[in-house]
Amino acid sequence: MLLLLELFSTLDVFTIQMEKIHVAAKQPIEVELEPGKTYSWCQCGRSKNQPFCDMSHVGTGILPKEFKVSVKRKVWLCMCKQTKTVPYCDGSHTKLE
Ligand code: FES
Repeated sequence: MLLLLELFSTLDVFTIQMEKIHVAAKQPIEVELEPGKTYSWCQCGRSKNQPFCDMSHVGTGILPKEFKVSVKRKVWLCMCKQTKTVPYCDGSHTKLE
């Protein structure tokens, strides 16, 4: 019984966390990134400056993901916020309903 209560408690936390993450779009966005610059990828899905953070996450408990690139290049950044290869698209958007 205790094990079941712990499992449901874990699922509730997981569900609450997933409800806080918004799908900004169901396709990735291509952006050109510059070396030496720190980028802040929006992880909460609320930013009006997608795919980058505009501080709309404040109060959600979700933080942006900072990252850099070593050479100038074009990349596909995740917009569905479900990727396992943050901040890059891993195709997770194709599994959304
Ligand atoms: S606005 Fe989404 S992580 Fe900052």
